Amino acid sequence: MKVIALKCKICGKEFPPKALYTCDNCFGPLEVKYDWEFIAENVSKEKIKKGPLSIWRYADFLPIENVDPIDLGAGYTRFIKAENLGKELGLKNLYLIDDSTNPTYSFKDRVVSVAVTKAKEFGMKAVGCASTGNLAGSLSAHAAKANLPAYIFVPRGIEKGKIIQALVHGANVIEVEGTYDDANRLATEVAEENPDWGFVNINLRPYYAEGSKTLAYETAEHLNWELPDQVVVPMASGALLCAIYRGFEDLKRVDFVDGEVIMNGAQPAGLPIAKAVKSGGDVIPVRELKTIVHSLAIGNPADGMFAKEIIEKTGGYAEDPSDVESIEGVKLLARTEGIFTELAGGVTIAGLKRLVEEGRIDKSDVVVAYITGNGLKTGESIVSYLEDTIKIKAKLEEFEEVISW
Ligand SMILES: Cc1ncc(COP(=O)(O)O)c(C=O)c1O
Ligand SMILES: [Zn+2]
Repeated sequence: MKVIALKCKICGKEFPPKALYTCDNCFGPLEVKYDWEFIAENVSKEKIKKGPLSIWRYADFLPIENVDPIDLGAGYTRFIKAENLGKELGLKNLYLIDDSTNPTYSFKDRVVSVAVTKAKEFGMKAVGCASTGNLAGSLSAHAAKANLPAYIFVPRGIEKGKIIQALVHGANVIEVEGTYDDANRLATEVAEENPDWGFVNINLRPYYAEGSKTLAYETAEHLNWELPDQVVVPMASGALLCAIYRGFEDLKRVDFVDGEVIMNGAQPAGLPIAKAVKSGGDVIPVRELKTIVHSLAIGNPADGMFAKEIIEKTGGYAEDPSDVESIEGVKLLARTEGIFTELAGGVTIAGLKRLVEEGRIDKSDVVVAYITGNGLKTGESIVSYLEDTIKIKAKLEEFEEVISW
């Protein structure tokens, strides 16, 4: 067995590897504890190379024991040398992982594929989540494939595209009055009442979070088993940044790589993690969320404290671009690399730009930025910031007049 226990991230108390997520001793969150001797004996670079073109090529590092994965093809997305964007920002070795091309168009497919597989392994009767939108779409699709009903709690006012995506797969979508944090509180109550339902980011959270480690494995594999100097990660709850860090640490444990990666975060202005890193203070929840970047709008980030610790420990930083800067980030990436990302990707690019301008990233550093979602989902939020179409009659003279402007 790969998974030995669940372990409290704060006091270290261990629990059996069931659908648990908080420590009864200190209320800290739990994480998966693995048998590293077992993993090191089983995993090899050659085996990975021959594996499927999805996150499941790294199955030896994932917390699933003996059930076939619910695999829509998440992960192993494009790894791109971003020459044009690099030139624009003054970076010689800028790479992107483009998760806007995942099966449901965001990185959430990585975590959901693992969590729904775990729900199957536990023999659960239904799955659910609280979501800012991307998770809703991903969970509804994976639940359909797994033949499980899905209960999805979203805050009122998220983008229509994201709701449609959840509904089309047959999920029960519950729009809760309030913010993501209100939806999450309600979903937690429902999870407590129904222990045989797997709420992927609540009672399955320790397993779910592990799916994002695959972004670290892909990064190293594409760099011929070298680590980058720095990475830039978008943050909402902070889980993604923590998982990518753990992924790099896993690779060191099995002697695939050595060295340290500087972990940087990017979060919309006003949100707690970037605020805490910038001020040097604690991660203090905020109630009012003013940003239009709905996918990153979490006021009470579950992994905020841990994300901040990792950023500081590795010598990284967090940037907090404004909404306008993030829209400019979306446009810059589209114009230079032909990738249409959602606003979370705009936050990442705008954060990267600031880090370079501040001299925190060196011109020759090998940098990887994670593009985590697709722009078609949030088109309505940026349409008013784009040039309008050119409207003419179907006459050659009119076209010629237009291009002579
Ligand atoms: C597109 C996108 N990127 C990044 C994140 C950040 O995720 P985390 O909550 O793990 O920090 C999210 C979260 O919903 C997201 O939807
Ligand atoms: Zn504890």
